[in-house]
Amino acid sequence: MSDVETATHEHRVFPPSEAVVKAAAVSGVAAYEALCKEAETDYEGYWGRLAREHVSWKQPFTQTLDESGAPFFKWFADGKLNVSYNCLDRNLEAGLGDKVAIIFEADDGKVTKVTYKQLLALVSKFANGLKSIGIKKGDRVLIYLPMSVEGVAAMQACARIGATHSVVFGGFSAKSVQERIQDAGAVAVITADEQCRGGKNIPLKPIIDEAFAMGGCESIKNVVVYQRTGGNIPMTAGRDLWLHELIKDQSETCEPEWVDAEHPLFLLYTSGSTGKPKGVQHSSGGYLLHAILTMKWTFDIKPDDVFWCTADIGWVTGHTYITYGPLACGATEIVFEGVPTYPDAGRFWKMIESHKVSIFYTAPTAIRSLIKAADVNPAAHPKNYSLTSLRLLGSVGEPINPAAWQWYYDNIGGGRCPIVDTFWQTETGGHMITPLPGVTTLVPGSCTLPFPGIQAAIVDETGNDVPWGQGGILVVKKPWPSMIRTIWGDPERFKKSYYPQDFQGKYYLAGDGAIRDKDNGYFTITGRIDDVLNVSGHRMGTMEIESALVANPLVAEAAVVGRPDELTGEAICAFVVLKGERPTGDAAKKMIKELQDWVGKEIGPIAKPKDIRFGENLPKTRSGKIMRRLLRALAKGEEITQDVSTLENPAILEQLKG
Ligand code: WTA
Repeated sequence: MSDVETATHEHRVFPPSEAVVKAAAVSGVAAYEALCKEAETDYEGYWGRLAREHVSWKQPFTQTLDESGAPFFKWFADGKLNVSYNCLDRNLEAGLGDKVAIIFEADDGKVTKVTYKQLLALVSKFANGLKSIGIKKGDRVLIYLPMSVEGVAAMQACARIGATHSVVFGGFSAKSVQERIQDAGAVAVITADEQCRGGKNIPLKPIIDEAFAMGGCESIKNVVVYQRTGGNIPMTAGRDLWLHELIKDQSETCEPEWVDAEHPLFLLYTSGSTGKPKGVQHSSGGYLLHAILTMKWTFDIKPDDVFWCTADIGWVTGHTYITYGPLACGATEIVFEGVPTYPDAGRFWKMIESHKVSIFYTAPTAIRSLIKAADVNPAAHPKNYSLTSLRLLGSVGEPINPAAWQWYYDNIGGGRCPIVDTFWQTETGGHMITPLPGVTTLVPGSCTLPFPGIQAAIVDETGNDVPWGQGGILVVKKPWPSMIRTIWGDPERFKKSYYPQDFQGKYYLAGDGAIRDKDNGYFTITGRIDDVLNVSGHRMGTMEIESALVANPLVAEAAVVGRPDELTGEAICAFVVLKGERPTGDAAKKMIKELQDWVGKEIGPIAKPKDIRFGENLPKTRSGKIMRRLLRALAKGEEITQDVSTLENPAILEQLKG
């Protein structure tokens, strides 16, 4: 049985304990249903009420939802606010100035604690520094930083002055950075000399220089460099500035720039079904509201919690559940620089123990790899650590298979912590379908039911609801406050990708398939229905990898598909036709390595195909269309039992077998 089948046939259920229900912000099924009912009866009234209660506005909004430009929806449009004010100043006003905001643990284990007061001072100096080099409201700033207090502060500083940040994950290549600089027309880059991961120092600033050398980065006036390691890196006079010098004499106060609720807080590039990554544009007001609400309801955040989201700030999970959500709720959170396997695979468990983490949010891939690591090295097994501080666990980024769920529940949660399996996307800004700890009876492998107010549904190709128990296409029927506003610079692509005519442009198309349990209506995500892969919880477009491969002068043609992988969820499998002869034996091995490194350079190491196979051609129909379903079957190592009569060149299948 596949994981999807096991989830939908899952009979183990885990109701919340009475104590958990009693203490939770949303307490009991009736409370959940009342919220859903409120949203159903008066949709705008519901979101308007929550936005007034949870967000601090400089100028209150008078209209909740403006649908006049659908599908370019506006929320709270005439309201004014500042996101950094909501995350910092208002906590000081509430008397939390001396509360620890961030517990930073470096790769080498060194711990630094930063209070709300200190963080506000740092962010203000940073913001003033950015202003002093001419960065202003509406400018785009590319951030290429490691996990650090400075990384969070850089994002907050942009938010404070109304600049729109575009964070690029530190594992992306120079070419990816260059493309993102160009697409966004960024005016500055904030980076670090090097990053420390797994005991090694890895250069970052030189990657920015490499991006510059490729040309087309003329929009950038300055590169601000955070000195992390003191490594020897070149600085370009007049352009490159050290962060510590830039902020040294700046004031510790900086009046926030009050922006419209719709002001773009950030762009975050993500993979879609074409070769070019898309700049997902998020708002200020609606985004912040959902970050706060999901912290309060999904994570049930309380004043004495220690919250730890293990994502990187380069991904949306790090944006919402490191930089914005926890701080906007006045929480204490962990920011971790390193990797889960250094100095050994017990690192996460050791950190939970030493910092008394109470809420832990990570990805299934991490769990699966740590299960395996604990088998290999019993000293790294979580049973060697005291994890009693934990009260709630979360999962994100990819489906969690029931076996990993159970291990997480038993070994990390000690059989006492609910697991919130949160389904959402870069485009949705925050959780969409998720259990609530004090409400939901959990079923391993299911993300259960929509967050109150989110109108998730499963439809067929023409937009009709499918009955429970039948698979279909996941859509959201109504706009919601934290939704993507547009694709930066490409509104047409936004419409086509997310509000397709198949559903008369009325429904948001998530790009995932899903099925609801025929008895309780619980959702299980069955995987992407477009050409997007999910490798270790990272989104990769097949066309993006194909474009990278064919950019190699030796490659004539390439097709990329995913295949299930026990550890990474999906693995990338590339079928390649070279311009020269089809290599075999050692020549093939050498070529595989060369192409893997090439893709690593073009996009980043996370995009390297695990499996590369060479053919003299690809399986095509007589009209020249690549038959991807055959490639998927070949990638999985399945016997081809499908009809191949439309295939132009059936003999090719033999060459492409693993
Ligand atoms: C997948 C990450 C199953 C899904 C927040 C989605 C999930 C894509 C889950 C978005 C989950 C995310 N269960 N699948 N709990 N969470 N996904 O944009 O395919 O990096 O469309 O956002 O990850 O990935 P993204």
